[in-house]
Amino acid sequence: MLDAKGHWLTTAGCSVMAALAVMATAPPRKPGAAVDTGHAELRRRVEDLAARVRVIAELSAGERRGEMAAIAEALDETVRTQNEWEERVLYPTIDARTACSGVALSALMQIEHARMAQSIDALAELALGSSPDALRFAVTFERLVGLLLGHLEVEDRVLFRLLEPG
Ligand SMILES: [Fe+2]
Repeated sequence: MLDAKGHWLTTAGCSVMAALAVMATAPPRKPGAAVDTGHAELRRRVEDLAARVRVIAELSAGERRGEMAAIAEALDETVRTQNEWEERVLYPTIDARTACSGVALSALMQIEHARMAQSIDALAELALGSSPDALRFAVTFERLVGLLLGHLEVEDRVLFRLLEPG
């Protein structure tokens, strides 16, 4: 891909230019104009889980273990399922629309999905101990949520705008 001055862009520069072009040309977002990406429901469910994580330290070891396992399972059903759906359904469309030097615009997003999956696995592991560590669980959960919320922001503001009708 060439830039405005006719210079060849690197593959990374190419992806960034494609994203910037979308941001510069995309019309103001209209309610209901975009595909339902499921992000609003995902945010609500993660907020509910955060409220549960805040009180796990107050539970007995047995109750805590069960609650931590249930929270990890809920993250699997929400975050991991959402991410797998995006990679199967949304990302191929986006990458096809921004095909550029063979680099998938969704590549960074897929790396973040993999990091989220690792965090969910780590949370499930923490629930297995005889005396589950509530603090480590809460810290790992907070890191996951921080990554997730930043990720959703980029998808909403840049990547998924490519799915809007032109
Ligand atoms: Fe995503």
